[in-house]
Amino acid sequence: MINPNTIQTIFETARIEEVVGDFVTLKKRGANYLGLCPFHNEKTPSFSVSPSKGIYKCFGCGKAGNAVGFIMEHEHYSYPESLRYLAKKYGIEIEEEEVTEEMQQQLDEKESMLALNSFISEYFRKNLFEKSEGKSVGLSYLKERDYRESTIQKFELGYAIDSWEDYSKHALANGYKKEVLVGTGLGIEKDEKIFDRFRGRVMFPIHNLTGRVIGFGGRILSSEKSKAKYLNSPESDIYNKSKVLYGIYFARNAIAKQNKCYLVEGYTDVISLHQAGIENVVSSSGTSLTVDQIKLISRYTPNITILFDGDPAGIKASFRGIDLILEQGMNVKIVLFPEGEDPDSYARSHTTGETETFISNSAVDFIKFKTNLLKEETEGDPTGRASLIKDIIQTISIIPDGIVRSEYIKECSILLDTREQTLMNELNKLLRNKYSKQVNIPKEVIPEGEVIDNRYKQVDVDPLDISYLEHGLARLLIMFGDEMVKVSTEENEEHEISISEFIISDLENDGLSFENEMCKQIASEIKSARERGEILTSTSFTNHSDPKMSALAIELITTPYELSEKWEQNKIFVKKEEDDVFGLALSSLMSFKSRLISKKLNSISIQIKDTTDDAEVFLLQQEFFELKKLANLIDGELKRPFNY
Ligand code: CTP
Ligand code: MN
Repeated sequence: MINPNTIQTIFETARIEEVVGDFVTLKKRGANYLGLCPFHNEKTPSFSVSPSKGIYKCFGCGKAGNAVGFIMEHEHYSYPESLRYLAKKYGIEIEEEEVTEEMQQQLDEKESMLALNSFISEYFRKNLFEKSEGKSVGLSYLKERDYRESTIQKFELGYAIDSWEDYSKHALANGYKKEVLVGTGLGIEKDEKIFDRFRGRVMFPIHNLTGRVIGFGGRILSSEKSKAKYLNSPESDIYNKSKVLYGIYFARNAIAKQNKCYLVEGYTDVISLHQAGIENVVSSSGTSLTVDQIKLISRYTPNITILFDGDPAGIKASFRGIDLILEQGMNVKIVLFPEGEDPDSYARSHTTGETETFISNSAVDFIKFKTNLLKEETEGDPTGRASLIKDIIQTISIIPDGIVRSEYIKECSILLDTREQTLMNELNKLLRNKYSKQVNIPKEVIPEGEVIDNRYKQVDVDPLDISYLEHGLARLLIMFGDEMVKVSTEENEEHEISISEFIISDLENDGLSFENEMCKQIASEIKSARERGEILTSTSFTNHSDPKMSALAIELITTPYELSEKWEQNKIFVKKEEDDVFGLALSSLMSFKSRLISKKLNSISIQIKDTTDDAEVFLLQQEFFELKKLANLIDGELKRPFNY
């Protein structure tokens, strides 16, 4: 683990223009640099690097990030890997966090499990090529399936002898510990004796990203119905099924190079496609895809093509899993193989060229695919059609990018022969619902027939706006927080304070705070820095050591007008924000506070209605009136917005 101080040093030392400059030819343009974006094909430069902000941003594809983010994106490194890369580039010595005895022990345990797996994998391989049972049973089976010897060697396939005590005995005799055999799941303990889990099976080692064997899948060769076709290693400290994809080690370079990943069902599909020269392929090993697996793929490409064998029931069952992929902002295509074929059988009975052509010709965008499939099913059934539309819109609502969503709405409006506006309304309904769930707002606003305060009754609390306004303020804190402005007090005395001090203390004075944890953290970091006599600038956040924070800061800085548009709807739009930061801060603060307070008032009135305890009702009422007083004050301030 890298020590946090070292991380800080790396961030402070790395110059974005130098880091990017190692990979991209940059030309100076004013204070910034310009070049061709390395992340998408382009003829005219739209890739900009800002040394003062410490970030890069492509105006073509929208990618943006700091120096560490650039290395992660460009080199497909993980966060710590990128930090190590930069440390090396700048000659920074990495101070590792002290490893405790307990941590060391865990590391040792994992290391011995990996060592055993690799030892056994080699043993299985030798069985296959050197032992008579391995050759006559295992190797002949693989040959029958047309696997070439080079393919078998590449995937390190092997064979487990059909006996209860074969490899376990061999491992124990070579000094491997009983606990490790049990820990990896290779051995099963019974009456103090260790037995082999895998017997008489062709063995498929499962590799992690760095090529180490973390588990096994074993295929039975007989067609006995009583035995599972595949037996897999159980989960362990080194094998977490939901985080692994079979074949990722062999596929990752090809996935990045072709900017596309094929996802298949089984071990044999991966291997046969590889043998046919299609190497950007991984398998989730028969289980439904997890978010961690999707994130693993997204390290290399945002494009996933799922190859299904021709079984409609299986496909429909996987629709939910596909929604997960869309939720991660990935693009999903579907290839449906002819009935009775899977990628493995297809690749074996066709040439490489034919297989490639088939895959690229039959790849259909997932949403179109789903729409068409469900459409066929609900032909001439109006209720079915209605629920089909709901279903499709639900899937579209999961896509994080608004532009992509509206493109799909257009397309589905044609496919379903339904007005675009109808689909849009349905989509907005779902989105609003989703956001209100996220911020936990009671659906019901004010109970009917109970007029508490007319002014607030008509405010239909829109949580989306609160979140927008809040992020708008956080954005001002990051971008203009250190700018000084003159304010006048009640007594008409003028004094200078920074924008961040103004925003933060104003909220504090009213006993209010941000709801979003990240926004809260931004405010509290600025505040404690000020107490230390330091001023945080935008780079402190875009180069923040917490990648979640730097990502948010970069997003806030690089999408300038989205938030202003929201403000415009609130009729407090400021034309050019740099021109009047103070006015913008003030109006954003006021509308944020007014929204926050009306939301609180609503929820208190609901609580009052639900409470039977008189004392509690009294307290709630007091809180209600305090807030209302505050609301009146804010209203007053909104009327004279430039005189604080
Ligand atoms: N699987 C499993 N356990 C089973 C059956 C299947 O773990 N009892 C997993 C395996 O990872 C397998 C995948 O699900 O590769 C897909 O199953 P299936 O299509 O039945 O197997 P194939 O990979 O096609 O294997 P084969 O071609 O050898 O029949
Ligand atoms: Mn198969």
